[in-house]
Amino acid sequence: MTERTSSSTVGIDAIALAAPRTYLDLVDLASARGVPSDKYTKGLGAIRMAIAGRHEDPVSLGTDAASRLFARGGIDPSRIGYVAVGTETGIDHSKPIASYVHGLLGLPPSCRVFDTKHACFGGTAALMGALEWIASGAARGRSALVVCADIARYALGSPGEPTQGAGAVALLVSERPRLLELEIGHTGTFARDVHDFWRPLSRRDALVDGHFSVSCYLDAVAGAFGAWRDEDVRRGGDPLARTAYHVPYVKMAKKADRHRAIACEGLDEAAAEARFAREVAPSLAFAAEVGNVYTGSLYMALAALLHAEAHVLEGARVGLFSYGSGCVAEFFAGRVAAGAAGFARELALDEPLRDRVRLDFDAYEAIRRADGDEPAGVTAGSAVDLPSDRCAFVGIDAAERRVYRRASPASAPRPEGSVARIAAA
Ligand code: CAA
Repeated sequence: MTERTSSSTVGIDAIALAAPRTYLDLVDLASARGVPSDKYTKGLGAIRMAIAGRHEDPVSLGTDAASRLFARGGIDPSRIGYVAVGTETGIDHSKPIASYVHGLLGLPPSCRVFDTKHACFGGTAALMGALEWIASGAARGRSALVVCADIARYALGSPGEPTQGAGAVALLVSERPRLLELEIGHTGTFARDVHDFWRPLSRRDALVDGHFSVSCYLDAVAGAFGAWRDEDVRRGGDPLARTAYHVPYVKMAKKADRHRAIACEGLDEAAAEARFAREVAPSLAFAAEVGNVYTGSLYMALAALLHAEAHVLEGARVGLFSYGSGCVAEFFAGRVAAGAAGFARELALDEPLRDRVRLDFDAYEAIRRADGDEPAGVTAGSAVDLPSDRCAFVGIDAAERRVYRRASPASAPRPEGSVARIAAA
């Protein structure tokens, strides 16, 4: 790997996803809750939502996504010098998820390793740090691993319930990226102290002021996009061909693009509708299958867009909108790299969404009601109900440490030099 030069581009070199093994069909949820199914499938745009089982958590999902990234992307893990996990679903007040992922993947000891938290914005905070780490020259030719991993949970029977989900997205951030060259330093930001969505330390389910959260999101679109556009006009940027949004549920991306079109850009209703169909809808297929994945949601939309359309987007400019409740938002853009279509095909981005198991409603409720009953007193050899190629949360040992099983390599941290074998795992 060569040193960075001033003409280097920096951005997203590779993407991989992980999703829980099981999902709930929204028609089944609607029927159990006595709600017309169209409210969920058309009103919210949700088809299925991923449900994490008792052996799946942000560590196991994040590790699976990163492991797939290395294997599918042909990436040598010894190139990594920065491991950041964006998450809302913390598992410990102190030890970060990134440390587990770093250990389970056997990444080099010479890494900066940490978690970032700001509701659904944590992944973008990690990505921005990675871009600046590389652009500053501090990376010295190394790449950054950014993982977004979350389980979105609301109370059973609450309005938020049909907008749950779970999953992880891993991004490799590098010079001369093979997928998306990002425009470092050209972003529009917006922040405001609001209680639209929050999760006190004692709770596993989020609390949300649902309709207020929608209006906070829309205000943030106007604020962040407006700031980005003012700077873009000054720079003489070319038009965006597509935009990927944070997708708490599919309809929200439509509301966001409509608000931008009508309130910020002066389009009429028909033009806004046509633009959504052309420029945003292609990014929403994975979100309809998985639901909200909080920090990973924007990057899952980007993955869906590249999966569906990279062949017509090489050289085109794509906008990205990240929103974290609380709140903060950022609008930024990138250019799809030459050759991205062929590489996106090799990444098989939709593979983790195939061959999942449909839960019936009772099984879903049983999983949710058992939330928090983590197996105690386990050892690394304790049984788990996941295929052996998946990383699994085994439970809590006698010293209250979380225990994970990963088929290969062993779950214990490994010395630098032994890591190349991971790519073949
Ligand atoms: N057929 C078709 N459509 C129907 C219907 C039917 N039978 N019944 C209702 N609908 C439509 C409604 O018209 C509505 O559409 P519009 O929004 O276009 O008007 C849609 O279905 C939803 O109906 P309601 O607004 O009545 O639904 P609700 O009050 O039960 O809750 C919600 C909706 C507030 C989004 C709720 O699901 C929620 O609280 N979700 C969690 C919070 C969330 O996702 N907020 C998003 C912004 S915050 C964020 O982005 C951060 C994050 O990730 C959480």
